[in-house]
Amino acid sequence: MSFFDDDGVSNPSGNDAFGELVEQGLKRRSILKGGLGAAAAGFIGGPQALAQSASLVGFGSVATTSEDQVIVPPGYAAEVLYAWGDPVSDGPQWEPGAGNSAAEQERQAGMHHDGIHFFPLPYRSNSSARGLLAMNHEYTDDGLLHIGGMEPWTAEKVRKSQAAHGVSVVEVARDGDSWRVVRPSAYGRRITAYTPMRVGGPAAGHPLLRTAQDPAGATVLGTFNNCAMGYTPWGTYLACEENFNGYFVNAGSIPADQARYGVSAAGAGYRWHEHDARFDGRSHPNELNRHGWVVEIDPYDVNSTPVKRTALGRIKHEGATVTLARDGRVVVYMGDDERFEYVYKFVSTGRFDAADRVANSNLLDSGTLYAGRFNADGSGNWLPLVHGQGGLDAAAGFPDQGSVVVRARQAADKLGATKMDRPEWITVHPTNGEVFMTLTNNSQRGDTGRPGTDAANPRKTNTFGHILRWSENGNDAAATGFKWKIFVLAGDPRNTDANKKGNIKGDTYGSPDGVWFDYRGVLWIQTDISTSTLGTGDYVNIGNNMMLAADIGSGQTRRFLSGPKGCEITGVITTPDSRTMFVNIQHPGEPSSERNVPSNPAAISSWPDGPGIGRPRSATVVITKDDGGQIGT
Ligand code: FEO
Ligand code: CA
Ligand code: CA
Ligand code: CA
Repeated sequence: MSFFDDDGVSNPSGNDAFGELVEQGLKRRSILKGGLGAAAAGFIGGPQALAQSASLVGFGSVATTSEDQVIVPPGYAAEVLYAWGDPVSDGPQWEPGAGNSAAEQERQAGMHHDGIHFFPLPYRSNSSARGLLAMNHEYTDDGLLHIGGMEPWTAEKVRKSQAAHGVSVVEVARDGDSWRVVRPSAYGRRITAYTPMRVGGPAAGHPLLRTAQDPAGATVLGTFNNCAMGYTPWGTYLACEENFNGYFVNAGSIPADQARYGVSAAGAGYRWHEHDARFDGRSHPNELNRHGWVVEIDPYDVNSTPVKRTALGRIKHEGATVTLARDGRVVVYMGDDERFEYVYKFVSTGRFDAADRVANSNLLDSGTLYAGRFNADGSGNWLPLVHGQGGLDAAAGFPDQGSVVVRARQAADKLGATKMDRPEWITVHPTNGEVFMTLTNNSQRGDTGRPGTDAANPRKTNTFGHILRWSENGNDAAATGFKWKIFVLAGDPRNTDANKKGNIKGDTYGSPDGVWFDYRGVLWIQTDISTSTLGTGDYVNIGNNMMLAADIGSGQTRRFLSGPKGCEITGVITTPDSRTMFVNIQHPGEPSSERNVPSNPAAISSWPDGPGIGRPRSATVVITKDDGGQIGT
């Protein structure tokens, strides 16, 4: 989102910056044949046979465009499937004027779709015709959400805003050539900013999580600002809490723990605290510690209680990408999306058991959390965030592991992790285990008083971002060392400014955010150039945000989709057969649709409903190929 995810720096520590860019040859790992790495690749509803053709990408590029629609290549079709306000199951219909109540919103699609995953039905099947879509609704623009925008500001509007956050689980089915949301459905569910959830892991019951409302520190109300996503081999969805700080205000003197996570006097403008006191960080300081986690949700059980998995650390979680170590331990990669923040990895203590779903249900509660250090010679280290190691002791503010995970950023500061250019999505190649990560931009890299460039973050200001790749030592995701290199510097190769000039082969783009390897091994890249940067004349800024497909063997990249005006492209997943793709379109119409701009929200975009009907809506789009083939071929 552009409203506030790029306007703060909370990292005051002075870890070393690294020197010149050194691109060291990264030895490509041999393809695992049949081992756990391969088993991990597609998980439930995993990959069909990998394509063997020379190029994985076969469609004709779409041009950049400023049209207010979703454009896909010739031979493909894109249809809107599930937009903000659409009923989840048997819920009420969308009111085009945004007239739905909070109680109605609670049974409808939330706002601002982000990460998404397809879970085949029934569980453990490989169905590509029926399944569950789990997806995030990252945040709200309250100028769009309510009749009259934010004036007057009422308890009902706060409740509606909270109801429009969180996660949807909807049942979808294919009828012939088209897809529909199944209504009613026994699976349809909304999780909101006030759904009760259990706390698991080392911070469960910790004094830092106890509040007057929950003296046991065991049950938290809600999840919000969920960005990107993760999915596990046992069929659960991981919702990740990103810019949670923006929902809190603290008009007093802000404690160091809150400052490190970006708490401010005014917050980001959600104004929940005016009608829900727990969002006042001065009077309810521990409420802040109950957010910033990865939340595990079982989409197959509509009555399941989501669990905040505190062993994975408290950061501004962009995503939680799961793979398996050689011995079956569960490995989770996670970015902390803020300027100069870190990359994290979690390795579970227990091992995945493919035969026993219940045995996997608390694997994410115990293990080792690491932060990444990217050395100038192309090597890397995973630094353990373990109480009692590396100076993480009581004297340093870490009396136990619970405090280490609550203060994960400060722990990573102390260990000397590498400050990155806003780590967003991370994805693991389906057969060789190589990891790719987007670094979307960093407008302050190299500024006075800020860290300078280093090997892994080589461009001052870094307007257009880049993508890193790494391989774990011994081709084992649980390794504590890795070899990394830069996959691509985004930006137009014709740009004469070295800090903006990219080295993309093929179609240009900027600010990669979403990134996902499909089951064939195609790297899908989604862009989030902010609406304030789009159209500023740096070549790459022509047109709307987009999605591209890269063949990592050749590096060739082609533009597959252009989104409507003012949107960003935020989520992508396919069915197991790769013949249906689901893509999320977020915040069409920004900035006229932004939170505090209620006067004419459709001034820029009226997608997807068209002019005169009301206001732009974030939505899930379903993409199929006219000949029934695999997406991207
Ligand atoms: Fe919500 Fe980092 O994008
Ligand atoms: Ca975003
Ligand atoms: Ca993102
Ligand atoms: Ca982004």
